Parts: sequence; structure tokens; C-alpha cells
Amino acid sequence: MIIAVDGPAASGKGTIARALAKHYGLPHLDTGLLYRAVGLHVLREGADPSIAADALAGCRFSDAMLADPQLRSEAAGAAASVVSAHPAVRAALIERQRAFAARPGGAVLDGRDIGTVIAPHADAKLFVKAAPAVRARRRHEELRGRGLETSFDRVLLDIRERDRRDTLRDHAPMVQADDADLLDTTFMDIEAAIDRALALVEARI
Ligand code: C5P
Repeated sequence: MIIAVDGPAASGKGTIARALAKHYGLPHLDTGLLYRAVGLHVLREGADPSIAADALAGCRFSDAMLADPQLRSEAAGAAASVVSAHPAVRAALIERQRAFAARPGGAVLDGRDIGTVIAPHADAKLFVKAAPAVRARRRHEELRGRGLETSFDRVLLDIRERDRRDTLRDHAPMVQADDADLLDTTFMDIEAAIDRALALVEARI
């Protein structure tokens, strides 16, 4: 069984995907981490994120790299959303994601293009969204919880900018697949969102 969970930053998709994976006993891949790894590589190398070849030069994936706590930084997320617009960067990451989706027994993947590009044949697809101000509040609280002081306005601006880049890019833009169920978490706490996600998946399998 393959479950695809897509949606914008701080929509709740990651938490929902983890909960679904736990519920069904499936492995889970947060595909944003792959793009964040390329973004972080660019930041550390001082490379130009708007040039695909620069972003990919010397970038090698390893389990250690994907566990780097810096991947969760806002800087890595912003760099990820720039490098992810390059077809060459997306192509370099596609096989790893498809191989994960093809695991015997199935998998849960979350990202932006899982239901449309990576696993269009997924058994259940969710597109998780929430109002930008609500997502910014969640992300702001999460950052403060991690001891990272930043203003709400700054976080909201970053979220809007990332949405804009992810939605408007030419290659694999963030879009709800035709056969995906929409889950709007604007007025839901995370428990309610997980319950609803489980009900939607159950109705599809
Ligand atoms: O999900 P997360 O916020 O960690 O993703 C970081 C960035 O990686 C996104 O803003 C997006 O540009 C890119 N991404 C993508 N396709 C995916 C997952 C993430 O383009 N499947």
C-alpha cells in the first residue's frame, strides 16, 4: 500500500504522514529532507542555488547527511525551495523516492509532488492545506520551542514566498492531484487532522 501526502510548509502533512506510517506499520520518507540536503549543501559550499550544476556539484547523499539537525533550519528550507525548481535537481532525486515507494509492503511519502509525479499510482492520496497565517503561527511556535527567536511576520513572509515558488515553478509544481482527497487543517488541531486523514485513507483502501 502506498500513501502519498502532499501540501505546503507547516500544513501538518509531515505529522500526518508519520501517524499514518505508524498506524499501518509502513516505512515513511519525508522527501523534503532530500531537497533540504541539497539546499544545505549549497549554503555550506557558498554555491549559487539558482544554478543547478552548482547545487549538485559534490552533493552526495548518505544516511548521516539526512540526519543533520541543520536540515530543519529555515535557511535550509528556503534554499531547498530555490534548488528544487531545477529539473536537474528533481531528476537527481527521483529514483531514490520511487525506489522507496516501491518497497515491498508499501510506504508513506510526504512532499509536494508525491501524488502527481513520484507515485501517481498511490492507493491513497491526501493534499493537506491550511491558511497561511495558521501555518505561520504553527511554524513560529515550533521555532520558538526549539529556542529560535524570530518574528511571526518574518515566518509568514517566508511561508508565502515558499508557497509562491513551489506553486509557480514549471517542473512538478505543488498541486493537488485530481484523485487526491483534500484535507484542510486550518480549524483542526493535530489529533483531529490525524483522525480525519485516517478516515480518508480507510475510505480509499
Ligand atoms: O517539506 P519541506 O518544507 O521540508 O520541503 C522543503 C522544500 O523542498 C519545499 O519548499 C519544496 O520547494 C521542496 N520540495 C519539493 N518536492 C518535494 C518535497 C519538497 O520540491 N516532494
